[in-house]
Amino acid sequence: MDKNTLSITDNRTGAQYVVPIFTGTYPRYGAAINAQALRQIKVSEDDFGLMSYDPGFTNTACCKSAITFIDGDRGILRYRGFPIEELAGRCTFLETAFLILHGELPAPAQLQEWHRQIKSHALLHENTKKLMDGFHHDAHPMGMLVSTVAALSTFYPDAKNLHDPVARRLQTYRLVGKMPTIAAYAYRHSMGLPYVYPDEDLSYTGNFIRMMFKRTEVGYKPDPVFERALDVLFVLHADHEQNCSTNAMRSVGSSHADPYVALAAAAAALYGPLHGGANEQVLRMLHEIGSKDKVSDYIKRVKAKEVRLMGFGHRVYKNYDPRARIIKQVADEVFGVTGRNPLLDIALELERIALADDYFIKHKLYPNVDFYSGIIYQAMRFPVEMFPVLFAIPRTIGWLAQWDEMLKDPEQKIARPQQVYVGADCRKTAESAAV
Ligand code: SDX
Repeated sequence: MDKNTLSITDNRTGAQYVVPIFTGTYPRYGAAINAQALRQIKVSEDDFGLMSYDPGFTNTACCKSAITFIDGDRGILRYRGFPIEELAGRCTFLETAFLILHGELPAPAQLQEWHRQIKSHALLHENTKKLMDGFHHDAHPMGMLVSTVAALSTFYPDAKNLHDPVARRLQTYRLVGKMPTIAAYAYRHSMGLPYVYPDEDLSYTGNFIRMMFKRTEVGYKPDPVFERALDVLFVLHADHEQNCSTNAMRSVGSSHADPYVALAAAAAALYGPLHGGANEQVLRMLHEIGSKDKVSDYIKRVKAKEVRLMGFGHRVYKNYDPRARIIKQVADEVFGVTGRNPLLDIALELERIALADDYFIKHKLYPNVDFYSGIIYQAMRFPVEMFPVLFAIPRTIGWLAQWDEMLKDPEQKIARPQQVYVGADCRKTAESAAV
């Protein structure tokens, strides 16, 4: 018998089944059976057959992907096989974005064309500004971003040509180019400031910082330390396997909706406080704690399950999130310019106590990508409401690469999970029963 199989005995019938096991690049990580193989396991001919029950898809592979690999036990994260530490140390975000989308780092000529395309699509249609002006003055920027990205679907009907790779690539250029502009415009709207047009003489992050913070200076120049720090943070946030928002992108995209509405759905998922909204919640938590000497009391509340330790824990990482480790290094560079953010001392004390506490060790709770990023963003003068937006900008390339991979995967079809029905049996309304 082929050793790469699963032998199943259904004790209800005594029937035996042999189900093939297949693996991905690493047999240790990704050995799976095709869930459809369970449907043959029945108690009678008219039996529907077995399903697997997996709320939150904690152990369900929805796809085969070659984009990102995470080893949660060993704290490994790789984009297209390259360790995140190498990419964060040696590549810009746009180089990394090219890698995530195309599978290889760009040659100089490819990078030059990639830059040209992204920069030439940074502008928004003037009507988009009228749409954004309609939001309340204190509208949350993530709400503005989600709505505006969805609205772009009405400006680019050619985005419905999903099976044309040239059309898909054009939407990718547009979305990667426009996300920083939408993000900056959302901020400027909330501040009552005029919108600042993109400047293609600047880098991707330099242009974004300028669109955010330029006032009346002539020849505004972004701080190069902030420019590089944001670029590293963007590299770290670019993709992360089948996280909640990527699952939303794939699921909505699987109905062949256009990439603008699919990406709006992904950004909406990211907005949740358990996902990309956590970086904003970390800052609110640190402010709530207020000082180092109050950390122990807060930890007690976490262990009593009154509150969650935001920025800690992860569905996949049961060790230190490698991104959090790199972000701590970036923090030192930024604080070299801005001066130390006092919240960092509270965060470091939280980490010190948590990592030594049996509750966190038993639950395998370590700092994740969101724990330190917000402290840096705040030091760079980004308002806390902008933190999830700063996550959505770089994750746009991850969502688009996963969407592109899904559309090209012959095994993929429209997402439509099963359920286990636990509701009422057939019954009649009083009227029909009276008949
Ligand atoms: C991101 O998926 C991704 O890759 C996401 C992301 C990406 O790049 O796309 O990495 C980005 O979303 C990072 C995570 C940001 N979220 C937070 O920091 C919010 C706080 N963390 C959690 O809510 C939680 O850890 C999750 C949501 C991240 C993961 O939750 P799981 O895997 O579903 O785990 P769970 O909620 O079932 O909790 C398991 C146990 C529970 O205790 P018991 O009931 O078993 O006793 O761990 C406890 C939880 O109470 N727990 C926490 C905790 N996280 C889990 N207890 C206190 N504080 C926490 N943060």
